[in-house]
Amino acid sequence: MTVLITGGAGFIGQHLARRLRTAGHDVLALDSLLGQVHLDPDASVAAFPGEVVVGDVAEAATWENLDQRDDIDTLTAVVHLAAETGTGQSMYEPERHRRVNVGGTKLAVAFAQRHAIPLVALSSRAVYGEGRHGCPVHGTTFGSPCCERAVPEASQESDEHRPVSVYGETKSEGETVIARRADGIPATILRPQNVIGAGQALHNPYTGVLAAFLAMLKEGRPLTVYGDGSQTRDVVHVSDLVETIAWSLDNPPTPGETRILNSGSGIRTTLLELAECAAAGAPVVSPGITHLDVHRAGDIDHACADLTLTRELGAPLPRWSPADAVAEFITRSWTETGAPADAWDDALDELSQRGLTS
Ligand code: UD1
Repeated sequence: MTVLITGGAGFIGQHLARRLRTAGHDVLALDSLLGQVHLDPDASVAAFPGEVVVGDVAEAATWENLDQRDDIDTLTAVVHLAAETGTGQSMYEPERHRRVNVGGTKLAVAFAQRHAIPLVALSSRAVYGEGRHGCPVHGTTFGSPCCERAVPEASQESDEHRPVSVYGETKSEGETVIARRADGIPATILRPQNVIGAGQALHNPYTGVLAAFLAMLKEGRPLTVYGDGSQTRDVVHVSDLVETIAWSLDNPPTPGETRILNSGSGIRTTLLELAECAAAGAPVVSPGITHLDVHRAGDIDHACADLTLTRELGAPLPRWSPADAVAEFITRSWTETGAPADAWDDALDELSQRGLTS
């Protein structure tokens, strides 16, 4: 009864592994221990409650080596988390993202198929791009808003894919690979929104906006909000995503079927509200907010998960509100070492130098 978790030494993998151990599963991680994510690879390995095999999911040899293990017959499922996730970076390093997110996914599916075990793979809400809009003139549309009267609506699993970043494109292609190739095994594709929680890679300036806000709060520096802050996100606590993964392992679709499921809080929060929640959760006087008139290529304005299918299937509903998730993230990460706030300025400069901001 062992679950193989690719990318298992990362933030989500560590939370998932602990959850599965309490449910009586053994866990095995396959992880490349990428320097951008694992500042101290030994600590990541030590934290994982099982064996960590170091290897690159995009290399066929990695999977062939797993095939040779004596205990290979004890594997009961593959949870495929390994991915290149930096949206901004994907715009100037498309091949790195495609290699792992499409090539690595192909190999993960082939492995699950060889061993006739279910696959649960993380995609991303990035496949929706700007997502669904409702408009009194044009009806329901997908992608960029049709006109000024369009109102963003929560994305449903059956919505069109309209990725705007290379990262989103590679996640969309990865989903196609799974749907086409997972022949005869149950496959579940999850589309998480913005996942946060303790243990995030805080030294990685491509981790997401809340890690940036945390770094700024620690330095007493105003929180830098790109644009007017009216952008919206759906922040999901890592433990809610982990519950959805665990449920997916316990409730696979029929063999040969590919099920797609959102993972989010279902609550839309503006960036300004997220900044306020982050500041309210910090043990310091709020340094305030500063606006920067910039748009990064690949960024979207609005995102929120529709949880109708989650309800219909009886999958776990989120227990954390975005506000509570942000507050817990700030409190639990406050004493963790992370990159200085100017690392996010540098990441933005890098994009501007490459012509990827406007
Ligand atoms: C994030 C993840 C992505 C994941 C996706 C879905 C990144 C960095 N993060 O993308 O991997 O697939 O969620 O869960 O790719 N912003 C600021 N100030 C800052 C930094 C960002 O205002 O210092 C703004 C951005 O312009 C954006 C919003 O905050 O409007 C969210 O940005 P971020 O968290 O970096 O990326 P997501 O697109 O949400």
